[in-house]
Amino acid sequence: MTGIEYKQNILADILALAPVVPVVIVDDVGHAVPMARALVAGGIRAIEVTLRTSAALDAIHAIAAEVEGAAVGVGTVLDAEQLQAARAAGARFAVSPGATPRLLDAADADELPLLPGVATAGEAMGLLERGYRHLKFFPAVPAGGAKLLAAWASPLPQIRFCPTGGIGLASAPAFLALPNVVCVGGSWLTPKDKLATGDWAGIQRLAREAAALRSA
Ligand code: 3PG
Repeated sequence: MTGIEYKQNILADILALAPVVPVVIVDDVGHAVPMARALVAGGIRAIEVTLRTSAALDAIHAIAAEVEGAAVGVGTVLDAEQLQAARAAGARFAVSPGATPRLLDAADADELPLLPGVATAGEAMGLLERGYRHLKFFPAVPAGGAKLLAAWASPLPQIRFCPTGGIGLASAPAFLALPNVVCVGGSWLTPKDKLATGDWAGIQRLAREAAALRSA
């Protein structure tokens, strides 16, 4: 088994933990642990913390160290340095909005499994050539939604997608029903207002609704 196959298998296990991967923007590192505990209590275990705030790496470290049952990942990874810093902080997977040759070379040299983003069949084929079997479809709704992914299922049957971008509780089932979708990503589980007010019970409720989507 090559390095990329091994890492893609790890990624497959993480993406199968729940039907939704929350995409989180953490402004205050103090929110990280109670937020992640609420998500895990609601049945959502893989959590993507985006590198869009200065608190992100500390948040990843805190969740990795303190939240049992969570598989914390890093999102919005754009370069090799971010990949390495996130792994050092304790991230177990990485997500990028797109893929560049330099980022892919860095991912090949790093043990952290990467879920790279694509929006076209050509991008997906390029990643398939490099051994990727799991891809993020981004931005899912603006790029063509469930109809586009359904159209890729026949010519690209080897690839499983995690569509992300513009998806919510109501639209998730149409994606999850597709044979080439393993889970969806979305920010709706951790809304800014609930994080700001520390409404962890509310986040747990949103997580529970999302975790129940698989059987919907
Ligand atoms: C993102 O990278 O911001 C994710 O795609 C989340 O998108 P959403 O806010 O539309 O769920």
